[in-house]
Formats: sequence, structure tokens, C-alpha cells
Amino acid sequence: MARFQAPRGTRDLLPAQMAAWQRLRALAEGLATRYGYQPIETPLFEDSAVFERAIGAATDVVEKELFRIAGAGETRDGDVRWALRPEATAGIVRAFVEHGMHTLPQPVRLTTFGPMFRYDRPQAGRYRQFWQWNVEAIGDQGPAIDAEVIELGLAFLRDAGVAQVEVQLNSIGDAACRPAYIERLTEYLRGVEDRLPPLERQRLQTNPLRVLDSKDPVLAPILADAPLIADHLCAECAAHYAGLRGHLEALSVPIRPAPQIVRGLDYYTRTAFEYFVPGREGQQQALGGGGRYDGLAELLGGRPTPGVGLAIGIDRVAAVIEEAVPTAASRPVAVVVGADAAATGDRLRLATDLRRAGIAAGADLATRKLARQLDGAARLGAHFAVVVGDELADGQVQLRDLEAGTQRLVNVVDLARELQRAQASHRHGQAEQRGARADSR
Ligand code: HAM
Repeated sequence: MARFQAPRGTRDLLPAQMAAWQRLRALAEGLATRYGYQPIETPLFEDSAVFERAIGAATDVVEKELFRIAGAGETRDGDVRWALRPEATAGIVRAFVEHGMHTLPQPVRLTTFGPMFRYDRPQAGRYRQFWQWNVEAIGDQGPAIDAEVIELGLAFLRDAGVAQVEVQLNSIGDAACRPAYIERLTEYLRGVEDRLPPLERQRLQTNPLRVLDSKDPVLAPILADAPLIADHLCAECAAHYAGLRGHLEALSVPIRPAPQIVRGLDYYTRTAFEYFVPGREGQQQALGGGGRYDGLAELLGGRPTPGVGLAIGIDRVAAVIEEAVPTAASRPVAVVVGADAAATGDRLRLATDLRRAGIAAGADLATRKLARQLDGAARLGAHFAVVVGDELADGQVQLRDLEAGTQRLVNVVDLARELQRAQASHRHGQAEQRGARADSR
């Protein structure tokens, strides 16, 4: 029989990885609530024109990485109408326009957490399905709101346990100053055209700014001498950029000016930033990034509306914090086991009662020897085993503390309360131990 595997560039997130995932998601949702960002869900696919217009037809994400999809019988002359979302911003701004959110108090702060799809060449840190946490603040020109967003991303990474994070910051100008800069850049690139790989030569014609974002290492020495947009900002963009740096300084957010950052999506104006672990600044290493997109709502048929946002790459953050071990949250407090291997019904009933009382309880429902059941409970990381035996006839069970190796008889009616009490004192004990450790440092 044929055996199947997850598609190339995708992976199954097994329970061990999901523990980290759930923690990161809870952290993101907690921060979003605290900062006033409201949840939104948009479809996993959109009309491909949403991405073509928002992200730009001549970008890697649209040209090479869009998963174009069609329903059965839906293609006409090879025309595929839909695409899986490669990022969340375009869909969120589409929803903002569609639902007339400009009538709400501005800015509208939105957040979403979910999978994105890019038909990228798979390699470490680059997947075809990956997860992002996204925040968008739509309807404020900044620069204070830009600082809020950048600080929020940093707060997430720090709380997630990324020991060192560097914020790289740039301004990439706007419709007033970018055209003149692009002319300067084009002039420079024409001068070195014979050294450019074919794709970049083509880019030079269609979208010269994208040459700066190329993943081809051959370009590094050529780009090192290219003119920088930060040196060609108009007065308004320069003032916005200076204002943003001032706000970040006031919030004690350290930044590194990064004049080479242009970002891979065409919708950006002015602010552009990325988060890195210092020393790991390669193309596949950004833990997240974002920026301002003042022209995007208009591109998607709305009225002119400024916006700024960011996305954190959850796969990359999880890899950095290496949380492949199950966390306490996924461990049962108790597993119900039994001397009579066949009496699975008793074990299921007792575990169900404990679960209804709010206790994370497992039940060994296999008909195997008690010793094997106890082994299994210990492997799950349970603190207690509830051992069901002949005493059940008198309404009692043995409560075995698997960590202390002690055991005592408990009335079934008291079991939930006993477990709660034991759990609470266990946690208290752990906290005291932690406290003692901290004192001794
Ligand atoms: P982005 O820089 O394309 O921005 O993606 C943000 C983050 O998603 C990256 O820094 C990276 O951590 C993660 N990421 C991107 N592609 C992959 C991949 N193939 N595999 C694994 N992780 C990946 C955006 O998507 C913008 N929408 C961010 C934004 C929001 N700008 C304004 N608002």
C-alpha cells in the first residue's frame, strides 16, 4: 500500500510541539487584549487579485510563492481565481474596507493568529505552511502608533523567552520621495547590470526596489554600494522617522538603524522593521517584521487610510525557544488505574467525575497489568495515580503519590477535593523552592 507523507515544506505539529504553540498563542492573545487589539478572522483564501494588488504583482511572494487554487471545474482557460493567503495584512485591510470600518473610532486595532501559505523553496525556517501572529492598527498616521506596534512585537518575543532580540528599523519613504530614489537606484543598477543574475535583470525593468530584497548571495557585494533610501527621504518622511525613533527611545526600545531593509511586500510606506536574534540576521532568520502601509486601503478600493502592523513568525520563535517538551499544562494531575484490568468502566467513570470537577485526569482504559498501567501514568507525567481495587465496593480508592512514592486510602466522594488540595500544596511547595533558589543566588 502507498504510504503518505505531509506535503513538502509542511509538517505535522505533534502534541509535543503543540504545547509551545499553545503557550505562544495564549501569550499573543493575552498581550493583544492588554494592548486593545481585537480578534479578527479572515478566510484562508481570497480572490488572488487582493494579493496581487496589495503585495504587488512583481514581488517574490506573488510571482513565485502564491498558492493559486480553484474549486472543481472552476478554472477557465487556466485562469485560477483564488489564492491561499501568503500573509494576513491584505485580507484584513480588505475586510476593513468591505465592512466600512472607517466609521469606527480610529485607529481600529486588529489581531489574528493562524496559518499562512507560501510556495517557497523549503529549508530551515522556511515552510510552505507556517504560522503568524499578526497585529494591525488601521486609521492613524503615527508615528506614536508605529512605536506601539514595534514595542508590542518586542514584548511578545521577550515574554516568549527569546533571550536577545534586535529591532532593525528603516524608513522607506512614500509616494513623494520614493520615485526619485528608485530612479537613483535604477541608474546605479544599470551601471552593474552585466553582473546581475537574469532574474534581477528582469526585476530591474519591472520593480527595481525588489532587487534590494533579493535572496541571491551573488548580489551582496553589489548591493553594499547601492544608494540607500534613508538618504533620500522627503521632509515629511524624515520627520515621521525621527518622531518614531524618539518615541521608541522614550519607551526604552533599543533599535538598530538598518538602511538596507526594504521588506519583500510592495505595500509598505515609511516605517519598515524586522526582529532578529543578534548574530542570526540571514534571510530566513527574521522572527517577525512589519511596517506602515498608508496606501493599502486605497489600493483595495477603500478611502485613503493609513495603517501599520506586524507579523511574528511562530515557527521561527518556537525553534528559537526550543520548547519541544510537554509543559505542565498538558500533563494530567492524576491517572485512574486499576487492579482489575478488565474493569475499564470503573476507571472511565471515576476519571469522568474528576474531569467534571475541573481536574486534568487520565484513565488507563487498556486491559493490562496494574504495574504497566502505573508505568504509563508516570510516563504521562501524572503526579498521582488513583488505584481502583476491591475497596471500591466500600466507596474507597488508593491515592498514590507517584512523585513521593506514598499511598493512602481515600473516599471516592472526597477524591476531587483531595486532589485539588494536594495539587495546591504541591504548587505552593514548588513556588517556595523556586523562592529559596532565588534567595540563594
Ligand atoms: P513577512 O516579513 O513577509 O511580513 O512575514 C513576517 C514573518 O513571518 C517573518 O519575519 C517570518 O518570521 C515569518 N515567515 C515568513 N515567511 C515564512 C516561511 N515561509 N516560513 C516560516 N516563517 C515565515 C508579513 O507577512 C507582513 N504581513 C507583516 C505585516 C503586518 N506588515 C504589516 N502588517
